Amino acid sequence: MESSCVRIAQRNLARSKTRTDTAVDLEDRNFLVKDADVWNGRAFTRGSILIENGRIKRIARRIIDNGVERTNASGLKALPGLIDVHVHLRDMELAYKEDFATGTAAAAAGGFTTVLDMPNTVPPTNSARRVIEKQKVAAQKTRVNVGFHAAAVSDSDEIEALAHAGAFSLKLYMPKPIAPFDVENDQAIEKMMRAARHVGTPVTVHAEDIVGTENTSQGDGFEQAADARSPIFETRAVERLLRIQKKARCSVHYCHLTLRSSLTKISGSTRSTSEVTPHHLLLSKKLLSTIGWRGWMVPPLRSEETRQSLLESTLAGLSSAIASDHAPHTIKEKDQSASKSPPGVPGLETTLPLMLTLVNRQQMPLSLLVKLLSENPARIFGLKSKAKLQKGADGDVVLVDLKKKSKIDSSKFFSKAKFSPFDGFKTQGAVHSSIVSGKVVYKEGEIVAGEGSGSVLRSGSG
Ligand code: DOR
Ligand code: ZN
Ligand code: ZN
Repeated sequence: MESSCVRIAQRNLARSKTRTDTAVDLEDRNFLVKDADVWNGRAFTRGSILIENGRIKRIARRIIDNGVERTNASGLKALPGLIDVHVHLRDMELAYKEDFATGTAAAAAGGFTTVLDMPNTVPPTNSARRVIEKQKVAAQKTRVNVGFHAAAVSDSDEIEALAHAGAFSLKLYMPKPIAPFDVENDQAIEKMMRAARHVGTPVTVHAEDIVGTENTSQGDGFEQAADARSPIFETRAVERLLRIQKKARCSVHYCHLTLRSSLTKISGSTRSTSEVTPHHLLLSKKLLSTIGWRGWMVPPLRSEETRQSLLESTLAGLSSAIASDHAPHTIKEKDQSASKSPPGVPGLETTLPLMLTLVNRQQMPLSLLVKLLSENPARIFGLKSKAKLQKGADGDVVLVDLKKKSKIDSSKFFSKAKFSPFDGFKTQGAVHSSIVSGKVVYKEGEIVAGEGSGSVLRSGSG
C-alpha cells in the first residue's frame, strides 16, 4: 500500500548489486498461488493469489494468467506471512551463533516472512550508525523481510537519529542495559520514553526488575537458577514501567511475559501491548530436571500452574502477540553449569508447528493464531502493508498443510543452533511454503532463495 510508513529501503540496493544468481528482477517477482484456501481475515475462501512486483495484484476464484511462475496450493491454507517481532539473529561478531542468512532461512522454514532483530549483539545496535551498518550487512544476506530494534539510549538526539535510521523500537533490557542506561532511575526511563514518543518510536522491554538484587540461587542447577529469577521480578518491572509509561504517554511493548497478572494489567492499560512465547505457554520448570540447558532461558520457565494460566489467558485473548524470542547459542556454550550457560533457545522453526497443533486440538482458533502471529505484530510495529491477503498488500504468504504430522527434530534446523526444548514433540500442522514479496523462499523442506533475496525494512517516523 502506498500509504505504508514502512519503506522497503534496500530493494534498490539489492537490485543495483552486481548481478549474481541472487540478484532479483521485478519480473521474477510475478507469482501465482493457485487454488489455495485463502484466509480473508475472517474465514477461508477458495481461490488464487496473483502477486506482481512484490504486491498482491488480485485474489479471485479463478485467475487466467499468462504463464507466470506458480505453485499448486490445492489442499493448503494460505495465511498472511507471519511476523516475529522478537528474534536474535546475531551476525556481526556473533555470527558463529547465527547470521542473517541462517537465521532468516530458519524464519522462512518456520513460516515467518518478516522478523525484527534484537540489539544485544556485538557490537550492540545502540546508535543510528550501527543500525545503518546492520541494515547494509543484512541486505546482502537476508532471505525474508528484516527490521531492527535498537537499544534504549539516554541521549534524545541519538533517539531522533535512531528513528530516522528506521529503528522499530528502543529496547530496554532491564536486567543489564545494552547501552549505558540507569535502569534504577525512573526519571531516566521517563525521559527516554518521552523522547521515544516524540519521534513516534515505541519502547520494547525485557521486564525483569532484578538490578540490585542478590542472586539467591542455592546450588548451580537449572531449576535453582529458574527459582532465583522469581515471578516477583516481572511483576515489579511491569507495575513500575506501566506507571512511568502513563506519565510519558509512550507506547510500550512488553516482551515475553510469563504471568497472567502481567497480561491483565497490560491489557487494561492504553498504549501497552504484550507478547508471550511458545516455551512459556507450553513448558514448565519441572522439565529442567531432564532437559537442563536445553530449556534454559530468561525469563525462565515457570511452575506448571503459572504456565497453564498463561496459556488460558492467551487463549482468552489477553496477549497481543506471540513471538519466538529465537535466541541461538552454540551447544558448547549452552552445555555448562547453570551459572555459565547463556540463556536462550532457538524458536523460529518450532513456533508455528506448535501453535498449529493447538489449532488442530481445537484449543486455539485459527483466527487467534493469525491475530497473534501476524495481524497484531504488524499493527504494533506499523507494518501497514502486511498481515493481510488482499489487493495492494505485500505479497508475503505462508502456505500451511494443516493436517501434516511431524516430530520436532532440531538436527534438521536451518538455524545454527541445533537444539530445542521441544525436541521429540509431536506436531500437527506444518509449513509447506513461505513466499516473501512474491518469491518462494522455502518449499517442502528446502530453502530455494539465495542470500539477499529478502528486504530490509525501516520503520517510518510517523
Ligand atoms: O533467554 C534469553 N536469551 N533472554 C534474553 O533476554 C536474551 C536472550 C539472548 O540474547 O540470548
Ligand atoms: Zn528478553
Ligand atoms: Zn530476546
